[in-house]
This record gives sequence, structure tokens and C-alpha cells, in this order.
Amino acid sequence: MNNFLPIQFKEDVLILLDQRKLPGEELFVECKDLNDTHHAIKDMVVRGAPCIGFTAIFGMALLFKELSQMNNELIQEKANYLVSARPTAVNLKFEVEQVIALVKDITDTSEAFVKTVEYGYLQIQNSERNNRTMSQFVFDDLKSRKPKEKYNILTHCNTGFLACGSIGTALGVIQVMHEKNAIECVYADETRPYLQGSRLTAYELDKLGVNHRVVVEGAASFLMRNKMIDAIVVGADRIANNGDTANKVGTSNLSIIAKNYGVPFYVIAPQSSFDTASSNGDEIDIELRPESEILCYKEHRIAPVNSKAYNPSFDITDASFITGISNEKSIYHYPYNFKETI
Ligand code: MRU
Repeated sequence: MNNFLPIQFKEDVLILLDQRKLPGEELFVECKDLNDTHHAIKDMVVRGAPCIGFTAIFGMALLFKELSQMNNELIQEKANYLVSARPTAVNLKFEVEQVIALVKDITDTSEAFVKTVEYGYLQIQNSERNNRTMSQFVFDDLKSRKPKEKYNILTHCNTGFLACGSIGTALGVIQVMHEKNAIECVYADETRPYLQGSRLTAYELDKLGVNHRVVVEGAASFLMRNKMIDAIVVGADRIANNGDTANKVGTSNLSIIAKNYGVPFYVIAPQSSFDTASSNGDEIDIELRPESEILCYKEHRIAPVNSKAYNPSFDITDASFITGISNEKSIYHYPYNFKETI
């Protein structure tokens, strides 16, 4: 899978695997400046909270390449523009703030560029180890609650190497379990309207050789009622201090059904996805995406021409419905208070 790394930086150009074209075509998009990077994030060439953050680091590096001198006011203005590309995934803001802190005392643009590129590589490199650690916490917790040889797992959206640059968060749990021969079947939600599940998660599961079935979101209740699911694993775009979690729209529905049928429900995310400044989910900004994502399939209109759509890209899962939230440090259980614990 290394040939298809979603983010590469070569000869001062950011090269992104175009996730809009997967699984049919493996094409790449080049970003030569911060503006290109903003559009690549906004248009979802690259997506998934951690990869959005990593991409933004290289976008900031490209900014330092463009500047003739370090100008803090201009840097902050451009940084705000980059962050505005996707408002819910807090990793974007987190990484841009990290870069600003990193270059605060640097006066030379070339040095700022080099330091930022190094930081970008380091973050991607660290994510492999971190993802494995947080995934293992969840597997251990699940085994202790429900000892079994093989598990049926349901997941939503895409949380693997395309979203994280390494083994992934929720998909990291699946990979860790697969390596231990502990997966019976993975049910991958199709994930309307952008189809991250049927296009991207199924693509990754196929490459990993994991037994899987794509299902529509509406099948979740049927699957859980019929005891076909042992656990649900999902990622996060932003976790508030009290554990309320913003993730791909439809995640909250799953958590409510899981609670009804007693199915363990886990959230897996790096520390950069935690936003302790938001005390609860009501304070999280939910991104609204274009109506066309719902009303059309590719260029083909599905809904009547006069119909409008409403397209919130994320929803909020109540903390009390989450069995465990894991990051690279630990697994946490309700009630959550991350200001005190992470
Ligand atoms: O709109 P997307 O595709 O960027 O949304 C991605 C998700 O919701 C993921 O589940 C989330 O970013 C976690 S990725 C580890």
C-alpha cells in the first residue's frame, strides 16, 4: 500500500492521492502553494481528520516558500484561510497552530520551511505507532468485555490509511484484530452521501485482505437486532471535553441503536482530535456541505430539479452512548473530563 501514500512531499510540491477518484483510478493532485492546499482540503482531494491536519502542515510549509520574509500578521491571516477549508475536523486547526508555534522565533523563511516539512514527516511517522497503541487499547477492552475468537465489527465512514496516513484509528483496530486472525467479518457502512465506506473503506479492506461486506446505514438496526455485530468502531473529527464526539453524519444514529441492543461502541482518535476548549458537543461547528452531494450522483441529477437538500457532514454522538474513547495514551470511559485526563 506504500505506493499509494495519500500525502507525499517531493521537490517542494505537495502530492495528494485524489480520494475523489478512488477506487476506480489512483491519480494524484499537486499543490504548489497554500491556496492549492486550501482547495484540495475543501474539495476533499484529501479527507479524514488526521490527514487533513498533516496536509495543512505541508500547506504552511508551502506558504513559507512563497514569502520573502516572515510576517506574523500575514502568516496568521493565511493560516486562518487554511483552517476555514473544513471547520469541524479540529486536527486542521491543531496542526496549523503547532506550526505557528514552531516558527514563532524563526526569522528566515527557508528555515521555517525546512522545520515545517520535518515536523510534517515526523507527525505522519509518529501516527503509525500512535494508531497501533490506541487500536490495541480498544481490542483489549473488547476482549475483556466479550471474550471470543473472532468478531464481527461494524464501522462507519473511512478511518484507515487514506484518512490517517498510517494504519488508521477505527480501521487500525480492524487491522490489529485482522493481524491476530480475530476478524470474522467487517460490515462497512456505505456512508451516504459521499460514499467513504463503499469507495474508500472497502478499497482499504480489500487491499488488507479483510473479509467484509458493504451495508447501507439503514441496515444497522437489523444487523444489531440479529446479533450480527459484536462491536462498533468509529473515528472522530472533534471530541469535546465531556466526550461528546463529532464524526461523519450517521455515527450518532449507530450509537443510539448500539445502546438499545447492548453493542459496545468505541471512538478511536489521536490527541489532535480532542478539543478541550469545547465543553460539550453543542459548541462544535458542524460543516454543511453542498446540496449537490445529495441531489446528484456524480454529474447525474437524482432528485427532482426543484428539490433542495440539507447536508450536515457530521453529527454529535452523546458521550454517554460511547463505551470507550481511546487515544495514544489510554482508553477512557464515561463520564469523560479530558481537561483533567489527557
Ligand atoms: O468528510 P470526511 O471524509 O473528511 O470525514 C471523515 C470522517 O468523518 C472520519 O470518520 C473522521 O475524520 C475520522 S478519520 C480517522
